[in-house]
Amino acid sequence: MKRLFRAAGITLLVIAVLLVGAKVLNLWRPILGPRARPLTSRTFERTPQRLERGRYLATSLLGCIDCHSVRDWKQHDAPVVNGMLGAGDIFPAKGLPGRIVAANLTPDPETGAGTWTDDQLARALREGIGHDGRALFPLMPFTNYRRLSDEDLASVIVFLRSLPPVRHPLPPTEMVFPVKYLIRSVPQPLTEPVPPPDLSTPEKRGEFLVAVGGCGDCHTPQRNGDPIPGLKLAGGEVFEGPWGRAATANLTPDPSGISYYDERFFVHVMRTGFVQARELNPIMPWWSYGRLTDEDLMAMYAYLRTLTPVQHRVDNLDPPTLCKVCGNRHGLGDQN
Ligand code: HEC
Ligand code: HEC
Repeated sequence: MKRLFRAAGITLLVIAVLLVGAKVLNLWRPILGPRARPLTSRTFERTPQRLERGRYLATSLLGCIDCHSVRDWKQHDAPVVNGMLGAGDIFPAKGLPGRIVAANLTPDPETGAGTWTDDQLARALREGIGHDGRALFPLMPFTNYRRLSDEDLASVIVFLRSLPPVRHPLPPTEMVFPVKYLIRSVPQPLTEPVPPPDLSTPEKRGEFLVAVGGCGDCHTPQRNGDPIPGLKLAGGEVFEGPWGRAATANLTPDPSGISYYDERFFVHVMRTGFVQARELNPIMPWWSYGRLTDEDLMAMYAYLRTLTPVQHRVDNLDPPTLCKVCGNRHGLGDQN
């Protein structure tokens, strides 16, 4: 009897631990490893329509080729170094927690994605799990890509398969402690189909484009890795690397932001990288977004116009000073 009680007690204890465990599982992800769904054997049919759509998305809006290629940052439009399209690079920004390597996405079987399956790529793109099952450093914007429809996802992958294979050996990503463990709670599996987005008005279309295009990753200032409330797209994040040092602009319709823009001027800036005589730092990927159609760029502008105006002066021509609004050091910071 006693033994039975003890056994029952242990069983209850185990159940209780499991229940509590399920609730706090996300807290345990750093130790247990990321949440990942099993891989499937699905493949995406290679059609000319998907190839075109995938090229459009990967080389403009989504920036895959921007981050996953060796670039010449000394030039106005940061061109891809000859023969290095999609071949990956050690990410050159200063201040990253370790060596972060954007993988070689070309179909080279040894140093690229040649042997990775379509579903391995699909899971990496929208769910943040690498081909080898590890959690990806969220500089890879998989949280933005989560909203990509199944068809757009398939298109991007069909395009990647069409890249000329480039042999480009790279070292593995090596994050510092404790980042390596903490990021394991970020990936979330996707097990339901993702339908196409609502593009019924320019503003809705623009909201989608700005979100999956990752404008906020750079233009919304962060504190401890989270967007600062009330400063959506209000600028001030600072990027340092081979391109020099630049703070992001305030994109809200405030006089300290881009209230003086009109639709034509926005399209012109995104296509040329010039704001009148002022040359934009190439870390602003206008050279990528500039490939978007007029319709898509105009929709982005329509959405930016709906943002809550935020008073936040940011300028890259003046020397950096501490800003009490965003906590960063940028030009005109002391005037906020
Ligand atoms: C802002 C830069 C950036 C953009 C934009 C970007 N990536 Fe990445 N990507 C990275 C980095 C950095 C890593 C490596 C993360 C790591 O190793 O933890 C990565 C990892 C990956 C991986 C996983 C590689 C592996 O080892 O399994 C794939 C696949 C991938 N990216 C594809 C894409 C595609 C396709 C797009 C566009 C839809 C894209 N990336 C856009 C930076 C980026
Ligand atoms: C990788 C980071 C990054 C991303 C992503 C990014 N930007 Fe920028 N952007 C910058 C930086 C940095 C500047 C400031 C450049 C300078 O002053 O030379 C800038 C400047 C701009 C400007 C010029 C404002 C002005 O008049 O000074 C516009 C417009 C702009 N970005 C729009 C966008 C939009 C729209 C998106 C998304 C589709 C976007 N940016 C995504 C980094 C980024």
